[in-house]
Amino acid sequence: MGEVVPLPVSEHGPEERPVLVLDLGGQYAQLIARRVREARVYSELVPHSISAAEARARNPRALMLSGGPASVYAEGAPRVDPELFSLGVPALGICYGMQLMAQELGGRVERTGVSEFGKTEVRAEGESTLFTGLPEEQTGWMSHRDSVTAPPEGARVTAGSPAAPIAAFEDPERGVYGVQFHPEVVHTPHGQELLKNFLYGVADAPPTWTAAAVIEEQVERIRAQVGSQRVLCALSGGVDSAVAALLVHKAVGDQLVCVFVDHGFLRKDEAAQVVETFEGHFHVPLVHVAAQERFLSRLEGVADPEEKRKAVGEEFIRVFEEESARLGKIRYLVQGTLYSDVIESGGDAAVAATIKSHHNVGGLPEEMEMDLVEPLRLLFKDEVRRVGEELGLPERMVWRQPFPGPGLAIRIIGEVTRERLEILREADSILQEEIRRAGLYRELWQSFAVLPAIRSVGVQGDERTYGYPVVVRAVTSDDAMTADWARLPYDLLETISSRIVNEVPAVNRVVLDITSKPPSTIEWE
Ligand code: XMP
Repeated sequence: MGEVVPLPVSEHGPEERPVLVLDLGGQYAQLIARRVREARVYSELVPHSISAAEARARNPRALMLSGGPASVYAEGAPRVDPELFSLGVPALGICYGMQLMAQELGGRVERTGVSEFGKTEVRAEGESTLFTGLPEEQTGWMSHRDSVTAPPEGARVTAGSPAAPIAAFEDPERGVYGVQFHPEVVHTPHGQELLKNFLYGVADAPPTWTAAAVIEEQVERIRAQVGSQRVLCALSGGVDSAVAALLVHKAVGDQLVCVFVDHGFLRKDEAAQVVETFEGHFHVPLVHVAAQERFLSRLEGVADPEEKRKAVGEEFIRVFEEESARLGKIRYLVQGTLYSDVIESGGDAAVAATIKSHHNVGGLPEEMEMDLVEPLRLLFKDEVRRVGEELGLPERMVWRQPFPGPGLAIRIIGEVTRERLEILREADSILQEEIRRAGLYRELWQSFAVLPAIRSVGVQGDERTYGYPVVVRAVTSDDAMTADWARLPYDLLETISSRIVNEVPAVNRVVLDITSKPPSTIEWE
C-alpha cells in the first residue's frame, strides 16, 4: 500500500475570520478598523449592539471595543452583550471600550477628578504581550475623564500613566486586554506595533489580507454571482469605477462591457487616458460615447449651480440609458460602493447605493432594474488604490484626487461655454503639472483651478487687457467633511501664476483661495 498523503487543509479566506470592531460611538472606530487592515488582517466595523450569538456566527479572530464619548455610568451609555467575553475569542478594549470591560468583568471605573487629554507618557510594567518589543516609556494619545481604578478580576496591570495608574491591563487566560490610550491614532507613535502585537501575538491572526488576496476573493465572488450573464459598468475616469471594472473583467472577461460617457467636463487628456487604458491596455470592451456637444447645449444659459448639477446628472442618465438599450438586455450593473459608504449608511445596502448615486453623476436610474455587482463593498479607499496598483492600473488613475461628477462644469462660475471650458482646462493643466512637479499632488486632498466668469483689467506689454481671473484652490483634508487651505510654497505659486497668465491668453490674473471648510466649501459651486 502506498503512503497516505494527507490532503492540504483548505485555507480560509481572510474575510471568513474577521476582527470585529464594535463601534461604541467614538470618533476613531472606523480608524481602528482601517489600522487592523493596514496590519493585513481583515476587519469589520459592527454596531455595539451585536449579540454574542451574532458575533459567534461570524467566527471572529478577535473583538475590539472602540472608544466612545460617554461615561460608562451615564444613563443610556452604550454597552455590549457581556456574553461576548465568554466566546473564547480575545478582546481588546480601547479607551471607553477598556472601561466597559473593567466594569463588566469585575473591575471598577471611577471619575477620579483627573482627566487626560492629548499626549501622555505611558510606562509599561511587568510581563505583557501588548507591549512586547515596545519601549518601556512611550507617548500615548489620551482622551478620558473616567479612569479604571481596578482591572477586571484576574487581569494584571501592564502600564500606567501619571493620571491613570491603570493605563493597560491583560488577562491572557480570559483573553481580555485593555488600553486607556488610543493606539490607532498617529499621535501614539508605537500604536500600530501594539495593535500588531494584539493581532499576531494574542489573536494569532495571519497577515493575509493583501491586495492579491482581495483580488482572488473578489474574482471568485463575481464569477459565482454573475455566472455566464453579461455585466455593464459605467466608467467615470475615477479610481473606484476603474478598479471595479478591472476586477469584473478579470473575473468574467468579455461578458463585461464598459460605457464611458465623455460629457466634455473632464480635465485635459483624461478622456483619452480612460480609452487608452481600458481599450488599449486592458482590452476591456468599451463603448466610448463622445457626448460633449450634447452636454454643452444642455447647459446653454444655465448659471445656477444646482441646476447645472441636475442638468448634467439627467443628461448623463439619458445618454447612458440610450447606450445600454443599444447593447441589449444586460442583467448586471457594476457599482463602486465602498465600505465607508456601507458603514455610513448603517450597513444598509439600499441606502448606501442611494447616497453614492446622489453625489455622483454616475448615479443610475432605478428603473433600469439591474442587479448590482459591488466588488469594492468590503474595501476602504486606500485598499481600492492598492488593489488598483496590483491590477496594473496606471499611477495617474490610482492616485487621482477626488473629482466631482459634473467636473469642470461646476468650476466655471457662471454659464459654461466652449471657450471658458478650454481656458479652464488649460489653466488647470498647468496647475496640475506644477503641483506634481513639486511632489505635492498626493499630499493634497484636491488641487484645481476655478474660472469665475468675470473680467478684470490688466496690462500686458503696452496694452490694456480685459481678461478672466483664475482661482487656485488647494486643500488638505481626510474626508472632505472639513478641509484646510494648503500652504503652497510661494515659489510654486509664482510659477503657477506666471505660467497661467503667459500661456493662457484669456487670463490676466491669478488669485489664491485661502479659506478653509467650513465656512467655505471645497468647490466653488
Ligand atoms: P464641497 O465643495 O461640498 O465638496 O466641500 C466636498 C467633496 O465633494 C466633491 N463634490 C462633488 N462630487 N458631485 C460629485 O461627484 C458633485 O456635484 C460634487 N460637489 C462636490 C468635492 O469635489 C469634494 O471632494
